[in-house]
Amino acid sequence: MPHTILHIDSSPLGERSVSRKLTAKVQAELRAKYPDSKVITRDLGVHPLPHLSGNVIGAFFTQPDKRDSALTEAIKLSEQAVDELVGADVIIIGTPMWNFGIPSSLKAWIDHIVRAGRTFKYGATGPESLLPSGKKVIIVSSRGGVYSDGPMKMMDYQETYLKAVLGFIGLHDVSFIRAEGVAMGEGAAKNAMQSAETQLVETVKKVA
Ligand SMILES: Cc1cc2nc3c(=O)[nH]c(=O)nc-3n(C[C@H](O)[C@H](O)[C@H](O)COP(=O)(O)O)c2cc1C
Repeated sequence: MPHTILHIDSSPLGERSVSRKLTAKVQAELRAKYPDSKVITRDLGVHPLPHLSGNVIGAFFTQPDKRDSALTEAIKLSEQAVDELVGADVIIIGTPMWNFGIPSSLKAWIDHIVRAGRTFKYGATGPESLLPSGKKVIIVSSRGGVYSDGPMKMMDYQETYLKAVLGFIGLHDVSFIRAEGVAMGEGAAKNAMQSAETQLVETVKKVA
């Protein structure tokens, strides 16, 4: 089945970025498996979305037919980001770990796509997703240290946060590929890369 792939990167480090090297490999594996796939790229490392302004939030809470031209303009970037998400079958997200969490560029994207009335609503029993079901999310996370096990595990606010916020809008099928210990010496960095490459091949194999 052909897929629309939404490829999001958030590292600003260009060719030096570990997460970008790995998301490129995820995309290449997916395209080898589904050659007819269409890829949409959102490069938050190069073109970050602005932080939410008062105008944008005002537009979020104004019905589309009541928005004047200023509010329509203010909400444009958010609408585009949500449309990309709605249209995607597979979403690849590359994220460096920054100060135990995600970079603010990725957080700004999240603030633009978690939208009452577009990606979720509050129903009688609590929040309900408005995204079409069946989407797969593959998150590539690159870290200087090791968090999947050991004393730093409790400092990993990246995975818990991403799982929670993506689940909130109905993205429950989320896989993590971790490159861990990339700042712990040459050998550790090489092992981290090899391990992440194995993880990504296995993850893409499971994409239906
Ligand atoms: C601003 C900044 C904050 C960072 N914070 C952490 C951190 O909290 N924990 C960690 O293990 N590594 C941290 N690192 C190291 C990065 O996670 C690591 O270099 C990773 O490879 C970055 O991803 P990238 O190469 O795709 O940019 C930090 C790096 C930077 C530049």
